[in-house]
Amino acid sequence: MPLFPVDPSDRKPIGGDTVSAIGLGTWAIRNPRRALEVLVEAVETGLVDNVDTAEMYGDGAAEELVGKLLRIVGRDRVFVTTKVLPWRLWRPEELERALRASLRRLGVSTVDLVLIHWPLDDMPVAEQVKKLERVAISRGYARYIGVSNFDHRQLEEALEATASAEIVVNQVHYSVLHRRQVEEKLLPLALRNGVTIQAYTPLERGLVARHPVVRRVAERLGRTPVQVALNYLISRPRVVAIPKTEQRDHLREILGALGWRLPVEALEELEKL
Ligand SMILES: NC(=O)c1ccc[n+]([C@@H]2O[C@H](COP(=O)([O-])OP(=O)(O)OC[C@H]3O[C@@H](n4cnc5c(N)ncnc54)[C@H](OP(=O)(O)O)[C@@H]3O)[C@@H](O)[C@H]2O)c1
Repeated sequence: MPLFPVDPSDRKPIGGDTVSAIGLGTWAIRNPRRALEVLVEAVETGLVDNVDTAEMYGDGAAEELVGKLLRIVGRDRVFVTTKVLPWRLWRPEELERALRASLRRLGVSTVDLVLIHWPLDDMPVAEQVKKLERVAISRGYARYIGVSNFDHRQLEEALEATASAEIVVNQVHYSVLHRRQVEEKLLPLALRNGVTIQAYTPLERGLVARHPVVRRVAERLGRTPVQVALNYLISRPRVVAIPKTEQRDHLREILGALGWRLPVEALEELEKL
């Protein structure tokens, strides 16, 4: 038996919305023109409807790029996640200023989801989450709030802290080669509480393509290692994978991870990694 029931759906819940099981990241873009073409193509296929960005990426340039995407494909076709730098939480006016700047770069009046990029060490988690809720939700800058890089204890604390909004997402490093930390405690907690896990660095920056076990499974199934690595993640309930690419052929390979599921024996083999 695999560790989690296999989710056969290519749609995943986030709060009261559903999004595609694969979204696209926007960190470390080398060629913005090509990256934009790939993002547009991804949305135009109808297979991708969520994009991840952050005020930190390219010092705002990634949000501007996502803004261009929204103007080309239409605001309503993309669920946008962005992230605020955690030290904004020290001063509400600073947090508000940062959120307004993100919205301006994105060219939207409300972002779908805003995350605390990583937890502050020197402020209680409850206080961090309450501050985000107070500014982002109460003033209408975001539809949903969430966290990123929170471990299971921090997520538990965050879940207890909000007053009216829910924590709908924890975005964490999760891949077939970096799975234990997530699968042992975090994902079970997320599943119990209706929190979606956005899996970042799902390709280990391309490393999954060279891993012998992933390659062996891929060869056996007539898929590529990248497709196996992504399919492993989206086979989990409430897991959305957010790989990054700015190459058309890579996008097509990524999209080939949708529409099928690894057989149980393959999942079990990969769960030993
Ligand atoms: N919350 C956080 O703290 C946090 C941290 C890291 C990342 N993230 C988010 O997660 C997203 C993805 O993570 P990531 O960028 O770290 O890593 P990733 O998605 O695992 O890897 C991206 C790298 O893999 C390459 N790649 C993409 N498709 C490929 C394919 N089919 N075959 C071979 N190589 C391929 C990309 O190159 P090409 O562009 O040339 O295809 C890029 O160099 C980020 O963009 C960001 O939005 C969040």
